[in-house]
Amino acid sequence: MPKLCVISGDGIGREVVPAAVRVLQAAIPDLETIEAEAGWDCFQRQGVSVPEATLAAIRECGAALFGAVSSPSYRVAGYRSAILTMRQELDLYANIRPVQSWPHVSPRPGIDMIIVRENTEGLYAGRERLEGDTAVAERIITRQASRRIAQKALGLGRQLGRERLTIVHKANVLPVTDGLFRDTVREVVGDALVVDELLVDVAALKMVGEPERFDVVVTTNLFGDILSDAAAHWGGGLGLAPSLNWGDGIALAEPVHGSAPDIAGQGIANPIAAILSGALLARFAWGDEQGAARMETAVYQTLAQTGDQPVGTQAITEAVLQRLEASN
Ligand code: NAD
Ligand code: IPM
Ligand code: MN
Repeated sequence: MPKLCVISGDGIGREVVPAAVRVLQAAIPDLETIEAEAGWDCFQRQGVSVPEATLAAIRECGAALFGAVSSPSYRVAGYRSAILTMRQELDLYANIRPVQSWPHVSPRPGIDMIIVRENTEGLYAGRERLEGDTAVAERIITRQASRRIAQKALGLGRQLGRERLTIVHKANVLPVTDGLFRDTVREVVGDALVVDELLVDVAALKMVGEPERFDVVVTTNLFGDILSDAAAHWGGGLGLAPSLNWGDGIALAEPVHGSAPDIAGQGIANPIAAILSGALLARFAWGDEQGAARMETAVYQTLAQTGDQPVGTQAITEAVLQRLEASN
């Protein structure tokens, strides 16, 4: 029986996560859920953004759905971003970010890519320091992390019947670090997929001009962060962009968007990014392709409907649930 740790977090996380849980429960009736805390509000009450009990609950379930957390834009002693903490502590080393064209909301049809972002090292290794008047950030690339992200991209490509893998790097300027990344990925993937490579600046240009050319993309942490936001534009924007932080036997799904304080509490947040994140859990963490496809089809049908589109968290959720039930 699949088990899910539900972490709503802050802001619109508290609106979109309950919506996505309703959809998951409709698609997977034997799903068991437990609630846990993380985020800024949690930090203010408990002095820690991700309590040990939350990490233990995620480990026990092997799967979590996380909403979003607010982070202050100033330095707060003892505070560390909840999502970065969970990625590191749970070794969620791959960040899977699919982007596809959806009816009505996407600016362009024919796009269907999956960005596989290394999620634990690179410029996110946390090695930043001040040496006198010089600020230093170390960008760490290891053979081990490059190998396992390549294995993840390859496994995913095979599971989904994908053909092409694009390695995005900056080995012209960083021959040692990104050279290691690129060579290791090539070694792991061999000729199991058609492999090509792009420098990250050219990749950004093509992401804007020729997004249909991308199939599976594998890249280092910060490049993946930036490219996946740009790519999300083609999927209809942040309100529709799902992601899965994925390690070995453990996964944490989260919408790409943040806590959106500008619209929190108004009932207008789009729950689709969270619902599609739930579908990623079904497909990859629980191996339930049928459940995942049913959720995605219900979202597709909701967006494709002609006439008045549902507006607001509740109306969109009800519309998705209605289509899901009709597919029973
Ligand atoms: P954001 O993603 O919260 O919002 C950006 C814009 O998109 C806002 O105008 C917002 O209203 C809109 N938006 C986002 N999600 C939406 C949805 N589901 N439906 C409709 N509109 C939506 O980014 P931000 O404003 O830069 O950050 C706000 C807070 O969230 C900050 O504290 C930031 O640190 C945090 N944040 C957290 C995460 C995370 O937890 N993974 C990710 C990004 C930002
Ligand atoms: C993301 C977010 C995070 C990141 C932030 C909130 C730390 O932008 O999930 O893409 O930089 O990875
Ligand atoms: Mn980001």
